[in-house]
Amino acid sequence: MNSDILKVLYSAQDIKATVQRLATTVHKDYADVKPLCVCVLKGAVIFMTDFIRAYDDYLEIDFMDVSSYYGGTTSSGDVRIDKDLDTSVKGRDVIIVEDIVDTGTTLKALKELLAHRGAKSVKIVALLDKPTGRTVDVKADYVGQTVPGEFLVGYGLDYNGLYRNLPYIGVLKPEVYK
Ligand code: PRP
Ligand code: MN
Ligand code: MG
Repeated sequence: MNSDILKVLYSAQDIKATVQRLATTVHKDYADVKPLCVCVLKGAVIFMTDFIRAYDDYLEIDFMDVSSYYGGTTSSGDVRIDKDLDTSVKGRDVIIVEDIVDTGTTLKALKELLAHRGAKSVKIVALLDKPTGRTVDVKADYVGQTVPGEFLVGYGLDYNGLYRNLPYIGVLKPEVYK
């Protein structure tokens, strides 16, 4: 185990079961459509690749990179698009795939933006939900695990760009970021 990790919250095996459960649940709601799964770079990359392989049916994928900032008031006004989608979302059933919902800033803005662009529906699947971090009102439609307010890394989640490649999700030792 990486020596910067205080404890493992979800093992690779735990995550696999969670992802499979999410994919099965989501698929039930998209039986007759071919959704467009939007991966929010970079944190969601690992989850996305496992999720779409557990989702045993037609779908398309695309990628978007956004930076959120605070205090924006208008619809979609509080994210900066660093890399936009290649695909038009007009008339599409979009599933935003995220690793974690914390303040909710990223997801609220993204959801509003894609709806504004004419998506037929926009839902959110988040591997992790940290409700104690929320500052804006947004809810993921599908949540893998509800997590405490600790600093989590691994399986896509980073600190200063590191730890994304850990196959488990763990709590970072406070001395690493203090
Ligand atoms: C992290 C995480 C979510 C977002 C959640 O991404 O992957 O996308 O923050 O935070 P929020 O609910 O407060 O908006 P980050 O912006 O750090 O970029 P990254 O995915 O490239 O790590
Ligand atoms: Mn992210
Ligand atoms: Mg990050």
